[in-house]
Amino acid sequence: MALATVLLVACDSGDDAERRARLGLPSPDHVADTQRGAALFASHCRDCHGPGARCSDKDPPLLHGYYVPGHHADLAFYSAVRNGVVQHHWEFGDMPAQPQVTPEQAADITAYVRDLQRRQGLN
Ligand code: HEC
Repeated sequence: MALATVLLVACDSGDDAERRARLGLPSPDHVADTQRGAALFASHCRDCHGPGARCSDKDPPLLHGYYVPGHHADLAFYSAVRNGVVQHHWEFGDMPAQPQVTPEQAADITAYVRDLQRRQGLN
């Protein structure tokens, strides 16, 4: 057990900034803001995900049981923004990566979507 702990600590002490960059994670000091997230969502995500991330017959809706935290953790949002998404839940094709959106902006957008999900009782 002690050995396992030492190994875990050793593994985790790698270059944290490099790991964050690779995974598209925001800086640990970033405080996500739903208001900023709403504006960023409107500029970068709404065309595909619909106004207010609501369901329509042509958008993959983020306000859906698929995307609640228990099924899609925040990491899925960072990864979608950084790497894009290969079609698997819907038939709308792949989602292209959104390199113009920084990890901190992705955190704001995620906070906004989580807020909407909570308001809809989806968590
Ligand atoms: C060009 C269209 C397009 C844009 C722009 C777009 N998306 Fe997507 N996104 C999609 C499609 C299509 C899917 C569904 C893929 C599937 O599961 O079939 C998707 C899926 C997702 C998922 C689910 C990922 C998963 O692991 O299943 C998340 C999270 C997501 N998008 C977030 C965003 C955010 C945040 C933005 C804005 C920064 C954004 N998307 C912009 C098309 C888009």
